[in-house]
Amino acid sequence: MDMGLVDYGGGPAHEHGSGTRSVADLTGPQSGEPDVAVDLDARKESFELAGGERVDGYTLNGTSPGPALEVHQGDLVQVTLTNVDVPDGVTLHWHGLDVPNAEDGVAGVTQDAVLPGEEHVYRFVAEDAGTYWYHSHQVSHAQVRGGLFGTLVVLPAEALPETDLVAAVHNYADRRTLNGSTGITSAAAADGEPVRVRLVNTDNGPLRAWVSGSTYRVVAVDGRDVHEPTDLRDEGVIVTAGGRIDLVVTAPARVDTGGGTALVVGPRGTRVEGRPEPPEQVDLLSYGSPAALPFDPDDADRRFTYDMGRRVGLVDGKPGFFWTINGRLFPDVPMFHVAEGDVVRMTISNHSGDVHPMHLHGHHAVVISRDGEPATGSPWWVDSLNVEDGETYEIAFVADNPGIWMDHCHNLDHARDGLVAHLAYAGVTEPYRVGGRADNAPE
Ligand code: C2O
Ligand code: CU
Repeated sequence: MDMGLVDYGGGPAHEHGSGTRSVADLTGPQSGEPDVAVDLDARKESFELAGGERVDGYTLNGTSPGPALEVHQGDLVQVTLTNVDVPDGVTLHWHGLDVPNAEDGVAGVTQDAVLPGEEHVYRFVAEDAGTYWYHSHQVSHAQVRGGLFGTLVVLPAEALPETDLVAAVHNYADRRTLNGSTGITSAAAADGEPVRVRLVNTDNGPLRAWVSGSTYRVVAVDGRDVHEPTDLRDEGVIVTAGGRIDLVVTAPARVDTGGGTALVVGPRGTRVEGRPEPPEQVDLLSYGSPAALPFDPDDADRRFTYDMGRRVGLVDGKPGFFWTINGRLFPDVPMFHVAEGDVVRMTISNHSGDVHPMHLHGHHAVVISRDGEPATGSPWWVDSLNVEDGETYEIAFVADNPGIWMDHCHNLDHARDGLVAHLAYAGVTEPYRVGGRADNAPE
């Protein structure tokens, strides 16, 4: 598979698909004692949610969500994934953590799917503190929905001043859950204590969350701190599918995450009345205050267009109403080519009639503008960006992580239906294939 139409973004061309480095060699450290070693065993089975409801899906170490992983910045992390009995094979992708390419866990792009009875070892250094998650990237539209995911928090070297909680929101079939529980989840915190709530949206659609009982701040987005966040009261937040937003609330407080789920923090037995969802959401384009960027987005080496539409056509020989990228249907999707060190600008626009949570692997990009309006708040770094129908975002990033990377919609049903492109570095060769022995099917 050559993964689409070569696009050099106006920069120098290089020979497509040739090179001296293979994706398979772009690994994390291969030697050295890991600081954290975890075994994760994947199964296809039926399991019970915390409230006793049965789900037919997938587990890691017998649970879904899988173990909540917590490591420290700078740790060498080693995860041994064993596929006990998932017939289609599995992988683990570290969503939002910019790991070396061979550790990225995408079947058919960075590895072969791990078949039943096989194992695969991931090794990477957790360079950036923040909130992340992991999930299978083999037949991901079914496996992630069915529970093959978990959270991953990288704690900063210096202890955080707040009590620290993760809140992963997921729909199992039509049951909305927070950390695997329907309804209201409580966590202990003293009166007046600041509490960090790391919202993780593991679903296909945008997550709307809002706070009752306290003012709050948005302190991080997609694992990157917000510069000088201000107090919020009357707005909610939108966490795009795959995205993460860290809030700091003051106990007692309640964070509603929709569908009857909420997290209440406070002294034991506290009840906080949830207010109705506010009509307004905080706009990250203007929230917080500006800070210097580590590169100059105006000095771009390449400029790409990722323009999403929809039309009738054939994909995989099947007729349907499919997503298009730059006017074309899968597999005629772009392969964005860069060279290491390039400053890259990308214009993402959407006139497809639906919202798309756009996720670039291996990199964080900064938002430059939305619909022509420049970003004026804190640098807004994303790995997952909510692009509503009718919107146009300009983003920029530095090509500083060589490999072949997916750049796709994280509504995984949309990805399955062809809303997938790739970012490819000059000089990197691709040994893996979609299909093949392991029947690799990343979406
Ligand atoms: Cu959350 Cu391509 O991944
Ligand atoms: Cu989409």
